[in-house]
Amino acid sequence: MSKILVAANWKMNGSKSFVSDFIREIASNYNQEHYHKLLICPPFPYLDQVSKGLSKTDIQIGAQDIAQFENGAYTGEVSAEMLSDNDCKYVLVGHSERRTILGEKDHIISEKFNMAIKKNLVPILCIGETHDQKEKSLTEEIIDSQITAIADGIDLDKHSKFIIAYEPIWAIGSGLSATPEDAQDVHEFIRYIIKKISKELAESTQILYGGSVNINNAKKLFSMPDIDGGLIGGASLDSSGFLAIAKQ
Ligand code: PGA
Repeated sequence: MSKILVAANWKMNGSKSFVSDFIREIASNYNQEHYHKLLICPPFPYLDQVSKGLSKTDIQIGAQDIAQFENGAYTGEVSAEMLSDNDCKYVLVGHSERRTILGEKDHIISEKFNMAIKKNLVPILCIGETHDQKEKSLTEEIIDSQITAIADGIDLDKHSKFIIAYEPIWAIGSGLSATPEDAQDVHEFIRYIIKKISKELAESTQILYGGSVNINNAKKLFSMPDIDGGLIGGASLDSSGFLAIAKQ
């Protein structure tokens, strides 16, 4: 069985009819023998439709965000338990669009990450540098600080289950993916940082690459030793293209 995880981040896209077409295509073609493992992260209103539509497959469902609170008077928020109630096993935390457009700071991201772990969801922590930071050779410093900000607030040990998605901000939606070699260098660095917490954790933690992954670059990216799969945005909205990436 493939160790590669291919995750779809639909962002704020979709409709009931889009979801039903997508599910039909995936459910009738996907099998774990010939494809990598799949995870789909639709917007909240479609979680139930996706989960019911894919219930006969082993495709996993994830959410794109989670409240840092358990329950109560937090208008507009969606709790960990509500996600579990909709068959979510995974949740994106700290996506750069939430950091930059919605102003989410490291301490909020740390609380969300913590809540996911506490409620037995697998958080997918998204990290990555801007173009400016890359030009100034600050990539490692940024990555280190983004991971440390999370790890400092939580008692992570060798049993903790989470995923990291390295998504250079300049590569997201730009068509300019990192080269497989450059992405590999950063992934190796990420594993080195996790090793400071625990060697076992560094070995077991999946590190996905995200940022303009498509059918032409997926195979080479997924063949790198420290790249354990991809977080796919734009290219995940086309079901047959997404399936083709999942076969690379
Ligand atoms: P992209 O987005 O594949 O459209 O670059 C990836 C992401 O933001 O998760």
